[in-house]
Amino acid sequence: MKKGLFSKLMVAFTGIIIVSFVMTSGFLSYWFESYYFQQRKVEMLRESQLIEYKAIQYLNGNLTSDNINETLSYIGKYLSADIWLVDNYGYIYSVSKSEHKKLIATSRQIVTKDLQDLRENKTVNKIQNYPGIFTTPVHTFEIPIFSNGVFRGAIMMHTSISELKSPLKRVYEIIWISAVLAIIICCIVIYYLSQKIIINPLKKINHVADKISKGEVEKRVHIESKDEIGELAKSFNIMADSLEKVEKHRREFISNVSHEIRSPITSIKGFIGGMIDGVIPAEKQNYYLSVTYSEIQRLTRLVNDLLDLSAIEAGEFKLRIEEVDINEIIRLCVIKFETKINNKKLKVDVLLEDNKLYVAADKDRITQVVTNLVDNAIKYSDIGGNIKVSTKVKGEKAVVSVYNDGSGIPESDLKHIWDRFYKVDKSRTSKVSTGLGLSIVRSILTQLGEDIWAENKEPKGIMFTFTLKRV
Ligand SMILES: Nc1ncnc2c1ncn2[C@@H]1O[C@H](COP(=O)(O)OP(=O)(O)OP(=O)(O)O)[C@@H](O)[C@H]1O
Ligand SMILES: [Mg+2]
Repeated sequence: MKKGLFSKLMVAFTGIIIVSFVMTSGFLSYWFESYYFQQRKVEMLRESQLIEYKAIQYLNGNLTSDNINETLSYIGKYLSADIWLVDNYGYIYSVSKSEHKKLIATSRQIVTKDLQDLRENKTVNKIQNYPGIFTTPVHTFEIPIFSNGVFRGAIMMHTSISELKSPLKRVYEIIWISAVLAIIICCIVIYYLSQKIIINPLKKINHVADKISKGEVEKRVHIESKDEIGELAKSFNIMADSLEKVEKHRREFISNVSHEIRSPITSIKGFIGGMIDGVIPAEKQNYYLSVTYSEIQRLTRLVNDLLDLSAIEAGEFKLRIEEVDINEIIRLCVIKFETKINNKKLKVDVLLEDNKLYVAADKDRITQVVTNLVDNAIKYSDIGGNIKVSTKVKGEKAVVSVYNDGSGIPESDLKHIWDRFYKVDKSRTSKVSTGLGLSIVRSILTQLGEDIWAENKEPKGIMFTFTLKRV
């Protein structure tokens, strides 16, 4: 990871630095070059006035050839240029450097094409090769000489290109050395910052992710920075929290399921073993068989409840939403529990809004909800107690409440009763309950997009209330 991210950052930053330096140095050298040439031209023009004056004197016979050569040599050295004087036909008659003196003797017309321009009093600027005279191309600046309006020749000033470019070279050198220095400093800064800000925190997160994936779900990342990486660490920890919770639930769930399954299986095994061994006498076998049968029924219910719950939670139960008369469902449900109600001598009040109350729901599922709630109300109320089931209309919603008196549910348990296998009274024999009923109720209502809550009522008793959508 370190190599990848760091080298990518490095390539990007170095690229940016190089591009910006190339652009800056490009502009800078373009500007500097033109400024430099302009300056040189001004200087040459200024010096050319003296040369012109001397040349005219010489041409008028008032100056010796040595004299003019000396002047040229002096100015040539000062300007770092080779200076030639040509007459109005383009033949050289004076030079600044002694090794060019041979050009005077030869009858070689040096200026040809430019003569016309010079005659028209125009200066000429060009880069030219003079084979045999200069080894490298030279920059030549030609200035015409006029005396009393008559064209008398020209001054030619040659500067070798390498000579011209040497100050520029120095500028380029400075630019490139500073570019390299800047890149090195940037590398160091980027290395330090990327390690501190990105790479080390990412390494930490990666390390913890690795630990979590190996089962150490309690591990967390400790990064305090207030940037995106800090946020990532925070989200990562939140994710780890929920993973830990899921893992805890999973463990609890497995242990609960095994526990719930073990007790009926143990008793079934005991009774059947007793019958086979003959420990249970033949006349009592029928009784024990019926006990075994009820244990098997309990197991079947447990397995069915679990399957239902996981199917509902996995969204596999496609709800068949239709118009359902919730009042009718409640009536049927209470009738279904008649025997149990009579056995416990309970007083059941059913207070329904209107005769019919239509809601949008899945008929089987909503019957299951009402059944589970009424079953609880019957199971958890004292003998001779009161149960109240009511429906009410509140705007768009139908509100269904199931109340029973009795000890109610301690406030600290209220938020847990919806968990799978949660029972308030842990000591209560598990023969009557598994703690899945309310989980199923809540899952169904959540899938319907509805709400359910439980509250203790004064002076005693508990009320479960849920909503449904009216149609
Ligand atoms: N009406 C009620 N009065 C008092 N306590 C209740 C009532 N309804 C639920 N509880 C408490 O909430 C717990 C969870 O209820 P839930 O219906 O999920 O499970 P259960 O009734 O124990 O088992 P199951 O419904 O699966 O047979 C119960 O064990 C009980 O302690
Ligand atoms: Mg129940």
